[in-house]
Amino acid sequence: MSRFRTPLLSVALACVALGNVLPRQSSNASLAQCPGYAVSNTQDDGSRFTADLSLAGSACNVYGEDLTDLKLEVEYQTTTRLHVKIYDAAQQVYQVPESVFPKPSSSSVVSTGAALAFTYTESPFSFAVTRKDTNETLFDSSAASFVFENQYLRLRTHLPSSPNLYGLGEHTDPFRLNTTNYTRTMWNRDAYGTPIGTNLYGQHPIYFDHRGASGTHGVFLLSSSGMDIKINDTDGQYLEYNTLGGIIDLYFLAGPSPKDVSMQYAEIAGLPVMQPYWGFGFHQCKYGYRDVYQVAEVVANYSIAEIPLETMWTDIDYMELRKVFTLDPERFPLEKVRELVSYLHEHQQHYIVMVDPAVAYQDYPGFNNGMDLDVFLKRSNGSIYKGAVWPGVTAFPDWFHPDTQTYWDNEFLSFFDPDTGVDIDALWIDMNEASNFCPFPCDDPEGFAEESGNPPKPPPVRNNSRRAIPGFPADFQLPTSVKRSISLRQVNGSGTAVGLPGRDLLDPAYKIKNAAGSISNLTIRTDLINYGGTTQYDTHNLYGTMMSTASRDAMLARRPDRRPLIITRSTFAGAGARVGHWLGDNFSDWDHYRISIAEILEFAALFQIPMVGTDVCGFAQNTTEQLCARWAMLGAFSPFYRNHADYQSVDQEFYRWATVAEAARTAISVRYRLMDYIYSHLHRQSTNGAPMLNPLFFEYPEDSNTFGIQYQYFYGDSILVSPVTEENATDVSIYLPNEIFYDFWTHEKIQGTGSYIQLNDVPFTSIPLHIKGGSIIPLRETSANTTTELRKQNFLLWIAPNASNQAIGSLYLDEGNALEQPATSEIVFTYDNGAFKMTGSFGYNTTNVIAKITVLGGGKSTNASYLYNEQAGSMTINGPVPLNKEFNLSP
Ligand code: NOJ
Repeated sequence: MSRFRTPLLSVALACVALGNVLPRQSSNASLAQCPGYAVSNTQDDGSRFTADLSLAGSACNVYGEDLTDLKLEVEYQTTTRLHVKIYDAAQQVYQVPESVFPKPSSSSVVSTGAALAFTYTESPFSFAVTRKDTNETLFDSSAASFVFENQYLRLRTHLPSSPNLYGLGEHTDPFRLNTTNYTRTMWNRDAYGTPIGTNLYGQHPIYFDHRGASGTHGVFLLSSSGMDIKINDTDGQYLEYNTLGGIIDLYFLAGPSPKDVSMQYAEIAGLPVMQPYWGFGFHQCKYGYRDVYQVAEVVANYSIAEIPLETMWTDIDYMELRKVFTLDPERFPLEKVRELVSYLHEHQQHYIVMVDPAVAYQDYPGFNNGMDLDVFLKRSNGSIYKGAVWPGVTAFPDWFHPDTQTYWDNEFLSFFDPDTGVDIDALWIDMNEASNFCPFPCDDPEGFAEESGNPPKPPPVRNNSRRAIPGFPADFQLPTSVKRSISLRQVNGSGTAVGLPGRDLLDPAYKIKNAAGSISNLTIRTDLINYGGTTQYDTHNLYGTMMSTASRDAMLARRPDRRPLIITRSTFAGAGARVGHWLGDNFSDWDHYRISIAEILEFAALFQIPMVGTDVCGFAQNTTEQLCARWAMLGAFSPFYRNHADYQSVDQEFYRWATVAEAARTAISVRYRLMDYIYSHLHRQSTNGAPMLNPLFFEYPEDSNTFGIQYQYFYGDSILVSPVTEENATDVSIYLPNEIFYDFWTHEKIQGTGSYIQLNDVPFTSIPLHIKGGSIIPLRETSANTTTELRKQNFLLWIAPNASNQAIGSLYLDEGNALEQPATSEIVFTYDNGAFKMTGSFGYNTTNVIAKITVLGGGKSTNASYLYNEQAGSMTINGPVPLNKEFNLSP
């Protein structure tokens, strides 16, 4: 039987093609009148199916003009991935360029071997995707007629009632999405306060549809167009894409488990990039550090407070009047900045600064060099497009221009020159949605900049009698010169259709629910043409991710051998293959503390951008001692851990309050001891896409109680994090699935029963953590002040047996920093009723050993190597067990 179901209706409709686009016929037609398309000219080679689609009646022209002739391509790309693409026959409609989102590799399997089946109806055309082994319909576009206009596409699928849907970021809405009267708008935006129900900084049009025991599947729409995805139950339950253009480029991922869907999505979006080990250390930042001395003071204060600080950051404050690639000569003089960086490096610490895309439209090298290469976005009259951002009037790099990479590389090579410039260890990129303060139409950016006071007046220069900074000697030796080899990346032209002509690129008839109003408001005008001919209208949502790629390549140009750590605000699908992300401008309140959990899970587990974190203690408004203490604990269990605040907010470094300092010391200590555990998980995710953080339903996909849980999650596969979420509360009700757990702090064994238990007396300086039975956790014996010191510590293993008295775990070891690792170890630990085994590969040369192995939860072995501790109810094996070869212990 062919997997392409015999058409239910085969009404052949003669369609006279009058060119690709029919003339506009009516301005008040409704979507209900849209005729849909009819299928003809089908071809099927067993793994690929193609057909022509022609408009099946009079054009409805609701938000533009119906396209008459389309092409359908269906491909069984792998046994678990089905690709459905519908595009215009003339191939003029914009498609996401491969230079930004490379086509996933596909093995083109024969449909009979695939988990999913594609079926279609001929006229009006609709299609369905079913899961073959259960015969369940996953997607069914017969829910409404398919509309493909020059500025509007609509595709609706039926869904079962009350579905469990996740994804469609970036948002601060509940982790499990609302399914009634709900719209997810995607149009990247500088979203101060990250309001719920609005479009935020990034675009990730993938959803996970979790159907409990019958499996999970994923649906990814590869589109950078602005869109509203509507989910409602008024006309049966449905999900509907409404885009401002582009094509239908859908990938269906069969799962069947949620983790399988994540891994299958990584095959399309790209495996997440490996990060430097030190990137998991604790980071401190604030907007508003007035000068380099204040930055140095913060470093010193952390040291005095005995709170480990791995990395110090500087916001735009370092720039001269907010111009990228400049230093404020009075507040951040080069010599002192270099002393600070040398100091940090000598103390095994790191330094990061911010770079924005908007370049001050002024006579200075950072701008002139871009002008010389002609890489800034232009208006149709050939003049440079001007907006207004921090430095006042600005130009914006055109990331499609073939010379922009050279410009960016050169600025990085000279400004961040390790020998003569600011020797950063990693990078922070911001405002890349792109943000523009000047409201549309921004006809007078100069006047706007002046009125709005950008750049702001810098704080008065402090005189030389400033306080001495403990630990900072007056002078530092500069490092000796090192020659670099420079590799330039070729920027690819779009290579695809640049977009239909004749569209209203500023004010399309279909209005997405952009919280900023018009699509050109507070960003780059959408009628600008990029190099190569694509428009900002079609590529707006790619701006931040293209800047990310260019910045990664520029970081690699200055240091070709090291893994670049880059944290960006704006992202598009697939960004995790190059960069990490922080969640932008949250508020210092309990709502943002809570919702950060769901957001981090989305990025790490659903969008394949695992290096993610929020502004710990909150960015805008004033935090409190209690909130900051709780957040210091919670933040330690996100992959990226940084305290950052707005310039108007109270100082919130962890040493400012006793409770927070205590919480931070505990949090950092446990985070550091678990660093190799989580680093191993990142390595696994970068290898196969299995997520390093897991929502509860990823671990218990058949336990319906877990589907809506968004304040608990697994750090790695095995550590259940259950923070206190209410202000002034010292208790929390947590869900424990039907499984054995072990309290992380006391090792007490708790039998979960698929119900909530109440935990009382959780001080502000602690966080409930439970180890899932069946896990083996590697952890360092003690924490350390820096990750460099941490790496010298020996390991412990905690074996947490499940009900069958078995457990498994792993440990990945490498040198931590090099782009290409010369030698690695991938060690697997197993425990089975007293028999312990260590197998795998042992290439990484280390003198660290496993000092002690502890089997939690009682039980005695007859093997004399095990020491039974009656009081703790645990068994131990005293090491050392070397980490360079296999090891076996019989029961
Ligand atoms: C906006 C960013 O989201 C924030 O983190 C930063 O402090 C300000 N820009 C200033 O650069």
